[in-house]
This record gives sequence, structure tokens and C-alpha cells, in this order.
Amino acid sequence: PVLVMDFGAQYAQLIARRVREAQVYSEVVPSSATAQELLAKNPSAIILSGGPSSVYAEGAPGMDPELVEAGVPILGICYGHQLLARALGGVVEPTGVREFGRTDVRMVGEGGVLHTGLPAHQTAWMSHNDSVTKAPEGSVVTASSDGAAVAGFEDVERRFAGVQYHPEVAHSPHGQEVLRRFLRDIAGISPQWTTTSIVDEQVRRIAEQVGDGRAICGLSGGVDSAVAAALVQRAIGDRLTCVFVDHGLLRAGERTQVERDFVNATGVKLVTVDARDRFLDALAGVTDPEQKRKIIGREFIRVFEQAERDLKAQGDFKFLVQGTLYPDVVESGGGEGTANIKSHHNVGGLPDDLQFELVEPLRLLFKDEVRRVGLELGLPETIVQRQPFPGPGLGIRIIGAVDASRLETLRAADAIAREELTAAGLDQEIWQCPVVLLADVRSVGVQGDGRTYGHPIVLRPVSSEDAMTADWTRLPYEVLERISTRITNEVAEVNRVVLDVTSKPPGTIEWE
Ligand code: XMP
Repeated sequence: PVLVMDFGAQYAQLIARRVREAQVYSEVVPSSATAQELLAKNPSAIILSGGPSSVYAEGAPGMDPELVEAGVPILGICYGHQLLARALGGVVEPTGVREFGRTDVRMVGEGGVLHTGLPAHQTAWMSHNDSVTKAPEGSVVTASSDGAAVAGFEDVERRFAGVQYHPEVAHSPHGQEVLRRFLRDIAGISPQWTTTSIVDEQVRRIAEQVGDGRAICGLSGGVDSAVAAALVQRAIGDRLTCVFVDHGLLRAGERTQVERDFVNATGVKLVTVDARDRFLDALAGVTDPEQKRKIIGREFIRVFEQAERDLKAQGDFKFLVQGTLYPDVVESGGGEGTANIKSHHNVGGLPDDLQFELVEPLRLLFKDEVRRVGLELGLPETIVQRQPFPGPGLGIRIIGAVDASRLETLRAADAIAREELTAAGLDQEIWQCPVVLLADVRSVGVQGDGRTYGHPIVLRPVSSEDAMTADWTRLPYEVLERISTRITNEVAEVNRVVLDVTSKPPGTIEWE
């Protein structure tokens, strides 16, 4: 693999994603890893990420000096560029010139392997205080900027390169090309990480892990559990049983998507548990958001455990399939798989004492890779391109107590909003668009000749990279108008549609 050493500031995962986009497998490793640990992974190259520290600061993370003697190609980015320059005998100084954001980077000479043939001036994303003022002995300077005399250097013979700017971010238009050149032309790696290779590799691993055992998988209706299940199904066939809990808090058409579309595409064995009444009873009269979440989580566990007991009566299910993704693995320290369920999981909060061995075929994948794998496995777009939807479902989108008629109202309004957004071709642009019913609020309206006293529906369209932060999406007025007209005409209880124009922070994406 290409190892991306994480010096903080969240760039490392993005670099790993970009390397994989160049069809080369890559993993994120902590900056505390020793040269020995890194070399044990037999890396084809190492990329040193950016980070918030100054290379001089006390306690600043460093790189094991042995690394540069190991013969492994190394690319340094930003902080990593400075670390690498210093490790090779270059000079890094606080120059007093700080560059932040879009910066003009000028090619020096031919621009070296990484920049040759690219525009002599390119815009690139910078974020630094210190700069490399003298390139290491034996290397050539390939780029510079106002704030960084050495914004790029290369030692092609020893296969080292550094760039002060961030090639991994979208604001550096030629960044992906620079990364690709490093991998191909300096490190000599041929691109082999394709969706087909991921599927083949995972199917092989799952078959090996499960042997002739049986596995169970909770489907949430979301992308991750569906793709995980489809992979496992391909590996072990009908020794996989999927369990889908209908808690009655789903949106229109979601149960059908799982029961019909998913099953048709995969031929998977599916058990649906209809627990709608049970959840409604448990939620009756509850208005507090945290309490709703707790109740939904608790009931979910009870239903799943019952389903598991019923299944166990038919045979021994030793394995549980989970749709854990790579970002979760990296964020929780990147450890290897453990025997029992850990705190993060995709299926509404299963307890620690469910004794299963975990099968996590998406542990190494990013979301976009998961989607491609899903398509490769023949899953329908309705499942693979699905926007995120919270486990507690519509239960946390009714502000006030949840009951059957309120759910029906919200479901109808939500279906209209989704239909119009899809028709306007906005699904890719929007991260998700919660539709929220203010069930305890009424306002006066007029419709036909009569006075109405109905509820508002809130549209909450957001754009985001990872749901940690978000901005409200500037939807075209015509689309908003169509959604508003249709909802107020077609959904009897609703006489007003309002738009949430709050970013996150300070708002969260969901209202509860
Ligand atoms: P917030 O509201 O915290 O949401 O800004 C961030 C993202 O997480 C989703 N979300 C959940 N997903 N179970 C889930 O599986 C939950 O309890 C839950 N709560 C929020 C939300 O839809 C958004 O994508």
C-alpha cells in the first residue's frame, strides 16, 4: 500500500482518497508509527500529510529519520514537505510570510517531474507559516511562491519529492495530476486498485473468514449495510440471512426498496420484522428528542434480538455483518477487527453482549468506493445513491409527539419534496434534505374560501462533505415554489412550507 502518515488537521484521509482515485491502494497511519512499523507493511510509497504544527514547536510530531534511508519513495505535503526537507538536510524557517488559501504557485525551471507541462503559474491551496528556504542537497527546486522560496523540490534519483501546497484539495486544480505523477513517475507504482479488484478481494476474504458458517446482517435501508450484505451474499450465498426491522418511521417506499429492489438484485434471504405498532406504542406521548432516540434504540435492540433468537433456532449464526467504513476505523484508532461489537456500528445500536464474530467487508473503503462496489454488484441506484437517513428515521423529524397520523402527514410531504428534488436533478448536489413536521405548531392560513389552521413543514436542504459541518443549500426558487405549492395543496394538514437557512454549526442537520 501507499501509506499516508497523518500529522493531523484531517488532510490525511483526503490524501488517501485521492491516491485511491488514482487507482492505487492506500492506508492512513498515525504519525507516531516507527519506521519499523511502517516498513513492516511493505509500503510502495509513503506520503507525509499536512498538519497544524510548526516543525520547530516543542512536541511537534516528527518522522523517524530511518525512513529516508529505507529506499521507499516519499512525498511530503505542506507540513510533511517541511519535515522531509529537514530530514534530508534542507532548511525550514519562519519567514514571517504566511500564506493561506488560494495562492499563485510558479514553476521553477521545467517544474520537475511533478509539474512539467502544467501551467507556469497555477493556483494551489496553501496553509503555512514556516517555509522551506533551502532545498536538500541533491534535489532540485521545482516551484516557488511569494511566501515559500521552495514550494516544491524533487530528488528523482532517491525518489523523494515535496510540495508546500495541498494537492489533495479541490482548490488545487492540478493537484490530482501531481499526485498521479508522483505515484506513477517517481514511485513507479502501476494503478491496480479498481472496483472489480476490490470486489474480488473482499469476496475472497469473506469466504475465508466465514468458511462454512452462517451470517446475519441487519439492513437499515441505507447504502452501507446494503453493500456489505451484497458482498457477503456473493461470498457465502444463502448462508447469509438479512434482517430488516420496519419500525414504522421509514419514508415512503423504503420498505419496498429493501423487500423488492434489494432482494431482486441480490437474491438475498430476507426476514422483515414488522414492528410498527410496537414502536408507536413505545413512543406514544414522548416529545423529548433524546428520549425518543433512546426509546427507538432500545426497541430496535429488542426486536433484533428476538429475530436473532428465532433464527438461531434454525441454525448456528456465528457471524454478524456490519457496514463499518474506513473513516470510522481511522477515527477510532485503526485497530484490527475485534471479536465483539464495538460502540460504533450502522445498525441502530446493537448491544455489546450479542456474541458474534464481526464481518466488516467495508472496513477499508470510503463512501464513494462503497457506492461503486454497490453498482458493480448490481444494486439499484435507488439504494446505492441514497442520501443519508438517520436510524431513528421520521421519529426525530416530527417535532412533538409521534403518532400514526402525523407520520402519514410527514411521509406525504417528504415524498413530494424528494420527488421534486430528484426531478430537478439536484440529488447529487444536496447532501440530504430533511423534511420536518412542526407538529405542535399551528398557524392560520387561507385556502379556497376557508380559513385553515394547519402545521408548517420545514425544508432543511444541506450541502456537506461529511456531515460534521454543513451549509444550507441555495435551492432554485422555482424548485422551492413547486415543492411548496404541491405540499400545501396535496397534504391536508399542512398550510405553510418554510426553509431552514442555518448552517451547521450552529444548527445540526436534523432538528432533533
Ligand atoms: P446532525 O443532526 O447531528 O446529523 O447534524 C449529522 C448526520 O447524521 C445523521 N444522523 C443520524 N444517523 N442515527 C443515524 O444513523 C442517528 O441517530 C442519527 N442522527 C443524525 C443525520 O441525518 C446527518 O446525516
